[in-house]
Formats: sequence, structure tokens, C-alpha cells
Amino acid sequence: MTIRKFAALAAGTALLTLAAGSNAMAEDSVEVLHWWTSGGEAAALNVLKEDLESKGVTWQDMPVAGGGGEAAMTALRARVTAGNAPTAVQMLGFDIIDWAEQGVVANLNDVAEEEGWADVVPAALQNFSKYDGNWIASPVNVHSTNWVWINKAALDAAGGKAPESWEELVAVLDKMKENGITPLAHGGQPWQDATVFEAVVLSLGNDFYKAALNDLDPEALGSDKMKEAFDRMAKLRTYVDDNFSGRDWNLASAMVIEGTGGMQMMGDWAKGEFLKAGKKPGEDFVCIRFPGTQGSVTFNSDQFVMFQVGEDKQKAQKLMASAVMNPEFQSAFNVVKGSVPARTDVPNDAFDDCGKKGMADLAEANSGGGLFGSMAHGHGAPAAVKNAVNDVVTQHFNGELTSEEAVEELKNAVAAAQ
Ligand code: GAL
Repeated sequence: MTIRKFAALAAGTALLTLAAGSNAMAEDSVEVLHWWTSGGEAAALNVLKEDLESKGVTWQDMPVAGGGGEAAMTALRARVTAGNAPTAVQMLGFDIIDWAEQGVVANLNDVAEEEGWADVVPAALQNFSKYDGNWIASPVNVHSTNWVWINKAALDAAGGKAPESWEELVAVLDKMKENGITPLAHGGQPWQDATVFEAVVLSLGNDFYKAALNDLDPEALGSDKMKEAFDRMAKLRTYVDDNFSGRDWNLASAMVIEGTGGMQMMGDWAKGEFLKAGKKPGEDFVCIRFPGTQGSVTFNSDQFVMFQVGEDKQKAQKLMASAVMNPEFQSAFNVVKGSVPARTDVPNDAFDDCGKKGMADLAEANSGGGLFGSMAHGHGAPAAVKNAVNDVVTQHFNGELTSEEAVEELKNAVAAAQ
């Protein structure tokens, strides 16, 4: 379904609800804290805004820029401390559990039960949508982080074959360098460095990823394999331009879109930027799994966590929780966002080839034991550990630590953060 058709349908539903006399009142509003400020992200968020507006719910925007959401979580802390929580907050994995433990989130059991969420939301997501057996959040998508986005013309100029192994990846990057472009478009921010790092770790084996970045096993964290992961990071650093430090992820995507950069290693929110720029998968850009991670997926799911709000806001809050879970909405939203639906019953018809691949990969990884929480995006471990990993990875990527030192630091920092 196209977005326009979906919007028309949503508007129609709103009219029917109005006629039935149970519509949201004009003053119903939701205040939503989120970090979707890039072009592609904002376009996706608009699908939700328009849907809610068609249901008579006014949208009060509270954007806090910063990929990965760290700044948004800081802003949230200030609001909750002041006793003035927003209605709904975009959030990832373990942060959701942290906030639930504070006793400040709402209970969505009535909507969830009425709409049968338990039957359609994958268990890996329910682990974070529920706390103590109660629904507290509506999952809006499943992103995965082990993707590479390649400029098609740059790939053709580098031999035309998408790399399937580390060696092939290095060969393509070398060729792109020879061709005079920045082979690896990258933004030097800790969460971006960590996004590449976790793909590298995954490429060294499913068991290794799970042991190191989900189970936090000191042996795996301090292993020779981990040194190899850091060596590979140091190699990747040689393909990045000199101006990468602090660059936002969507500006790195823009380099690949324009062809000044060859490829970007980034979660599938990057696809949202390509689409927003009018680029077509297969024609203008190519999406592949990070070489060596085919069949496996590191996932993160954006969820809207509902906070405890006054009675006057609760009706709109529940409307929003329900709207996010609507299957047609999940299709329309995720087609634009680059992610895939958080429900198992949404058809893939409206998705492009990368989206269809994303859905198929997720199903394959889920049934084949290759689905893991993304460390860089809050689904591997709580924030304290995530931040400790990010710090070490960034220091090493910036040449402040050798690979040997990074392995030792990683093991110690993860132990100290638990
Ligand atoms: C991720 C989030 C995505 C996207 C990305 C960059 O953590 O799940 O939805 O927004 O950050 O901002």
C-alpha cells in the first residue's frame, strides 16, 4: 500500500470513528520525544504524525538530534526528574527495561490484549516491550545493523561484484581508493564506530558475537579473535577520509548517495536517506550484509515507550499505542524508514528488494539461531556496558590504542561496567 492510500484509509477510519461518536476529542494530543531528525527519519515519522492527526490526535514534537539516541535519553532524564514525562518516547532495548524499573511507565495491557499483540510480536521484541509481564511499549520496527550500502556506479567501477568475504571487501575498498573516491564513508562518533565494530565481530562467527557482545564472556572479550576484530577495524580506518571525525551518519550516507564515497557500513535506517534522495535499490545503490555475516542479523527495535501521564492524556496515549501496532501502518512506516515491521503478519508486497531481503533475513536468522541483539543500539547489554564498549572501540579507531591494548581495555571496561 502506498503512503497516500494508507493516509486516505486512515482518514476514512477516523471519519467512521467520528460517526460512531467515540472519536478522540480535538484537544487529544501526544508529546513524543524522539531522535528522528535526518531527512529519511523525519519522512518516516511524518507517516505516524499524519496517521494520528487523521484520528484527531495532535502531535507535539520533541526532537532531540543525535543518532543512536544518547542525547535523547539525557533529555528524557531531565523531563522525568522534573515530574513532567512526555506521553511517548522512542527507545531501544535495555533502556526500556531501565526506565520500567523506575516505575514511571504506563500499562498498555488492555490495548495489547484486545488487539492480540502477543500473537504477532516476535518474542525477541516482547522481551523489551513488556516488563514484569505487563506491556509498556509499542514496537514500531525492527532495524538491523549488519548492512553495507554501496554506490552502484562506484561498485561497477571497482569490478561490479559485491564482496562476500573480508578478502573481497578489502579488494573492493582498495579498488575504490585507486579510483579516487573515499572508499568508506563514515562518521566518527562512538556509536557509529561501534556499529561497524559489531558487524566485524559478527563476521568472525555467530558464537563469537554472542559470547562477546551478548553474554559478555571475559574469555571471548579478551581473545585472539577479538584482537583480529580490532585489527580489521584498523584496516577499515585506512579507507576513511580525514574529515570523518564527528560527522553525522546521514552525511556519510550522502557521500555514498553522491558517489564521493563508495560504501557505508550502517544499519538499514541509511536506506531511508537513499530513498529520500530518490535513489533506487539495485539501480543507484546496492544493499548487502556485511561480508561474512550472511544469514545472521544483529537487530534493534525502536519502540514507543508510554510514560505515566495525567488522565486527560491517557486516551490519546492509548490511541497512539494502538496506531503504531496497526499492520497497515507498520507497512507504510517501515517502507519509508528502511526497517521491517515489528509484527510477523505484515505482507512484504509494499517493500523494495532491500526491505524484502531484510524481512527474509530476519526470519532466517530467527529460525536458524543467528539473531542477536545489537550492542551498539541498546539490545546487547545495558547502557553502561554499551558506553564502555563504544569508548574503547572509538579510542582504538582513532589510533589511541593498539589492538592488543584495546582487547585488554575492552575486557576490563566491560567487567567494570556491570
Ligand atoms: C538507531 C535507531 C534508528 C535510527 C538510528 C540513527 O538507534 O534505532 O531508528 O534512528 O539510530 O539515528
